[in-house]
Amino acid sequence: MNLQFIRKVIDNHSQCRHMANMIHCLCNNINTAKVDIAASQGAERAKDVMRVCGTKFNCGQCRVSINARLEEWRAINPALEAAE
Ligand code: FES
Repeated sequence: MNLQFIRKVIDNHSQCRHMANMIHCLCNNINTAKVDIAASQGAERAKDVMRVCGTKFNCGQCRVSINARLEEWRAINPALEAAE
């Protein structure tokens, strides 16, 4: 195997950049990056994310997606959560 082939096979985490742009709330244009910022500022639930973003729920279809991302964020950043 040559080195170029190995580099193509190895995951370069490009999906992480894609995830940052994933829209969770269509009504308020809240993407993963905004949810993560809200989480770093103490948001624990979707309604907290709305408050941090200065918006309110419209249809509410995003609650599950935002709460799931908050859970992922807490799993990725356990030290930050424990520090608070
Ligand atoms: S998708 Fe978030 S309020 Fe409608």
